[in-house]
Amino acid sequence: MARRRQLYEGKAKILFEGPEPGTLVQYFKDDATAGNGAKHGIITGKGVLNNRISEYIMLRLQEIGIPTHFIRRINMREQLIREVEIIPLEIVIRNIAAGSIAKRLGIPEGTRLPRSIVEYYYKNDALGDPMVAEEHITAFGWASPHDLDDMVAMSLRVNDFLMGLFAGVGISLVDFKLEFGRLWEGEEMRIILADEISPDNCRLWDSKTNEKLDKDRFRRDMGQVEEAYQEVARRLGILPEA
Ligand code: C5P
Repeated sequence: MARRRQLYEGKAKILFEGPEPGTLVQYFKDDATAGNGAKHGIITGKGVLNNRISEYIMLRLQEIGIPTHFIRRINMREQLIREVEIIPLEIVIRNIAAGSIAKRLGIPEGTRLPRSIVEYYYKNDALGDPMVAEEHITAFGWASPHDLDDMVAMSLRVNDFLMGLFAGVGISLVDFKLEFGRLWEGEEMRIILADEISPDNCRLWDSKTNEKLDKDRFRRDMGQVEEAYQEVARRLGILPEA
C-alpha cells in the first residue's frame, strides 16, 4: 500500500491524507502525555483500545442524530474521518468534581455538582490551553454566538446520552472534553463533533467502587492503565481483535 502523507502529528494521534478529498485517516498512538506534555509515556495497546472505544461511541452518537467526523474504522489503529476545520476550543462538561475544578475551587473530588457544568478552554499548546469565557470566544471570533450555542447544545446531549450509556455498564461519567470542527458543503457550514471520545479525554469511575478507569491512572502514576482502558472496552462489549 502506498505510504500516506502525514499532515499533522499530535500527542496521541497522527492525521494522514485520506483516500478521497475531504477525508483523513486518524491514527491512534500508544503515547500518553499529561500536564500539557510535561510528562510522557507509552501505554501499550492504548491506541488500539481508543480506536475501538471512540468508534463505538461515535457510532452510538450518530444513531441519536449527533453529527460526527467518524466515517468508519479501517484497522486496529486507524479510522477514516471527515476533514474539518477544527474550532480552537475544548468544551469540558462536568457532572462530578474532579481534576482542575476540584483543585481550582477547592471542591472535594467526587462531589456531585448541582448541575452539569460547561467550561471552555482555548486550544493552544504554547499557552497550556487556558480557560476562557464566552466573551473571549465570540470577541476573538473563534466561534460566533450561534455556533457556540450549537456546540453547547450538542455537548449537553452527548452528556445526557453518555451518562446513560456508561451507567448501563456500571460506570459514572465524571467529566469529558469534546472538540468540534466546521464542515463546509458548498456555501453551507455545519458544525460536527471531531477528535475522539475515549478514556484519554473522559473521567470514568466504577459506579460502585469509584475506581478510576481512565487516564488519571497515568497522570497520577496509579499503574494498571492499560487494564483500566481494557475494562472500559470490555464493559462496552467491544474488545479489540487479538
Ligand atoms: O484537567 P481537567 O479536570 O480540566 O479535565 C477535565 C476533563 O477534560 C477530563 O476528562 C480530561 O480528561 C479532559 N481533558 C482533555 N484534554 C485536555 C484537558 C482536559 O481531554 N487538554
